Amino acid sequence: MSSPILISGGAGYLGSHAAYTLKNEGFEPVVLDNLSTGNAWATSFGAFEQGDIADVDFVRSVCDKYAPLAVIHFASLSEPLPSDDPTCFFADQREKASIFFKTINACGIKRVVLSSTADVYGDLSAVYGATGAIGPVSEVYPAKPGSPYALSMLETEAYARMLDVDGFRSITLRFFNAAGAAPVEAQIGEAHAPENHLIPRLLLPLLNTPDNLLNALGIKKTFVIHGDDFPTPDGTALRDFVHVLDLADAHRLALTYLLKGGRTDVFNLGSNTGFSLLDIVNAARKALNRPNFTPKFAPRDEDDQPKLVAGRSKAEKILGWRPERSLVSMIADAAAWYRSPFYLEALYAKTGQSPSA
Ligand SMILES: NC(=O)c1ccc[n+]([C@@H]2O[C@H](COP(=O)([O-])OP(=O)(O)OC[C@H]3O[C@@H](n4cnc5c(N)ncnc54)[C@H](O)[C@@H]3O)[C@@H](O)[C@H]2O)c1
Repeated sequence: MSSPILISGGAGYLGSHAAYTLKNEGFEPVVLDNLSTGNAWATSFGAFEQGDIADVDFVRSVCDKYAPLAVIHFASLSEPLPSDDPTCFFADQREKASIFFKTINACGIKRVVLSSTADVYGDLSAVYGATGAIGPVSEVYPAKPGSPYALSMLETEAYARMLDVDGFRSITLRFFNAAGAAPVEAQIGEAHAPENHLIPRLLLPLLNTPDNLLNALGIKKTFVIHGDDFPTPDGTALRDFVHVLDLADAHRLALTYLLKGGRTDVFNLGSNTGFSLLDIVNAARKALNRPNFTPKFAPRDEDDQPKLVAGRSKAEKILGWRPERSLVSMIADAAAWYRSPFYLEALYAKTGQSPSA
């Protein structure tokens, strides 16, 4: 039986890994992406339609052409350009998602998995207490977004839930950070420019990435850990990372749950324990065989939280999901991708840099 699934934002980091996973599991991915930050080279796991989620006629035509059973929604931008007004930018992101959900609902597509963020919980100090001893954050913790990005995602979630009265069922997945990559033969991986995520910022300088590329990505050569006096076991902040293929698998399980009649719900996808910044450095030393690598330390930033870690008990119980891959394998898989000639070539093209510069 044919099982087309529409993946909005499927040319991006998470969306391309979801398309890869769905194809391997017998679904037919249909990627819809405007390529604002995504990559055409990451869309080889099914059909690709280039356009914007807020273009109603375009989305209708894609729905008519493929008759998808459901949508997995990743299309969103977390960073305004320096020239954008952040308030308008995030209001626009939320508005576009609402238009998209309204359009697909009108086309009769009533099952959506929404990739959100655990940033919606905001300040988690109260969950952990002064000693950092309690945690991880569960879905019952009240969402109090502390940034325009997190607020726009929470409002996007709420809009999807509102459509429930019309038989529209949505699963919202909240997580902190994705890392790693599919096996190099798949030729997909994280390729943001600029790159603000911690693991590529740690790894790319260690892998001797050319200076012009590091500059174009906004990455400094020295890796700095801010704060070694947090109330955590080694004094560095605890952060949450899940392998991108484990996250893709969670989206597949949520999709299957909905297709089997599951109800609208919210799940956190977390490691439960998190990793300290020193754990991450140690994993990089091991995965890259660089035992002598030493980061620089600097004072913590004023609003840095000691621990941002999500739980997974509910996703484990209801969706049957748990992450399978370790921190070292996240780092080793990411490093294999960053070392691949395909990534470097794609990055030169994306940043307009040249190998000889
Ligand atoms: N990467 C992470 O670690 C992480 C962590 C938590 C949550 N998230 C969330 O997951 C989602 C995907 O993240 P990502 O890292 O894959 O981002 P990404 O930038 O790699 O992918 C987003 C994709 O959406 C597309 N897109 C954006 N606006 C669009 C529009 N209006 N119409 C059509 N396509 C559009 C982009 O071209 C891009 O391909 C985002 O909502 C992000 O906030 C990501």
